[in-house]
Amino acid sequence: MHNFRQITDDLYNVGANDRRIRMFENAHPVPRGMSYNSFLLMDEKTVLLDGVDNAIIEQFWQNLNAVLGERQLDYLVINHIEPDHCHPYADLLRRFPGLTIVGNQKTFTMLKQFYEVELEGRTIEVKEGDTLQTGKHNLTFYLAPMVHWPEVMMTYDSTSKILFCADAFGTFGPIDGKMYADEYKFDEEYLPEVRRYYASIIGKYGRNVNAIFDKIANLDIQMFCTLHGPIWRKDLHLILDKYRQWASYTPEERGVVIAYGTVYGNTALVAEVLAKKLADGGVENVHVYDVTATDPSYVLADCFRFDRLVFASATFNAELFPFMETLLLDLKNHNLTNRTVALIENGSWAASSGRKMREILDQMKGLNILEPTLSFKSSPKDADIEALDQLAKTLLAA
Ligand SMILES: Cc1cc2nc3c(=O)[nH]c(=O)nc-3n(C[C@H](O)[C@H](O)[C@H](O)COP(=O)(O)O)c2cc1C
Ligand SMILES: [Fe+2]
Ligand SMILES: [Fe+2]
Repeated sequence: MHNFRQITDDLYNVGANDRRIRMFENAHPVPRGMSYNSFLLMDEKTVLLDGVDNAIIEQFWQNLNAVLGERQLDYLVINHIEPDHCHPYADLLRRFPGLTIVGNQKTFTMLKQFYEVELEGRTIEVKEGDTLQTGKHNLTFYLAPMVHWPEVMMTYDSTSKILFCADAFGTFGPIDGKMYADEYKFDEEYLPEVRRYYASIIGKYGRNVNAIFDKIANLDIQMFCTLHGPIWRKDLHLILDKYRQWASYTPEERGVVIAYGTVYGNTALVAEVLAKKLADGGVENVHVYDVTATDPSYVLADCFRFDRLVFASATFNAELFPFMETLLLDLKNHNLTNRTVALIENGSWAASSGRKMREILDQMKGLNILEPTLSFKSSPKDADIEALDQLAKTLLAA
């Protein structure tokens, strides 16, 4: 049975949800699943803008067949050649002999790397600002390198005033019936997962995100059609403002993230005591994470959200507690900056976790790392309380 969605009089979403996937890109937990949108424009020419993942390929064919009916597919616009959108492409080429693929130079290089397809005479290679008339609709292509991959582009339909923005404004999680972002409660239902998606998938490339939105700032855009999650048709500034903040690594609000790595629980106790002191001191947002228990993507997202970060780690074979190392490398690899950071180390014979955390954080630009690192041996004593009080004060003032 088909399950497509109509967006405008001639635009359809022929994508679907995959609620079985547990790790998106085999890296990021998606406990509720993932959605893949694919847009079919039924103009004088028919145009598919991006495809879907293999997990939902049968539903895609049902949807595509139902909308296309007896018509042939004339164009496939590939805004992003990552495999989570490309499963049907080889079959589409075989099934529709008149199909022409629209992409940029990098798109075609990677298309041939991933799939054994014969493209001779079947491509239109576009450059920045090139256009394609499909009947009523006029499509313009804007290169958006590194939002999320180097070949990414966005397609602007000046007739419907829609931006097909590839992975941008995507989110983890499925589409629960409601296809538009304005049908979800922004702060509670939408923001946490779109932030975690942004931080995990695009977070490293803030400069590129700003560049593309500067480039298209003057376009009249009424809708953002993203490849993952709800479509934006109202109050587009809500998500655009968030993207601008994240892209410039500006904290969204004041708050402290405390992440600890512990074997026996002593480092955890210190983190809990610090959290209590911060809350007593008036910090509204204090989020504490055990790095073993919580996937780093959730902590990463909170580090994009808040302005102060505390990392507390036991020493482990003269190195960092492994999950803490994973988290810090994740932060470094996402270019996080503009944050105040405090460190707490713990060890029983030669504590080196403070130094090890610094070695990673020192490779990051624009962090204000507070001195001194709070160091204690094995378990915190009453004598350590003073140092914790001092650290809480410094964090409250920061
Ligand atoms: C596998 C392993 C390796 C460790 N390596 C070190 C080490 O190299 N240096 C050190 O001072 N303590 C080391 N420790 C001890 C812990 O860092 C120390 O007991 C710490 O106080 C534990 O804090 P926790 O209660 O938060 O787990 C190691 C512990 C384990 C289990
Ligand atoms: Fe992607
Ligand atoms: Fe994607």
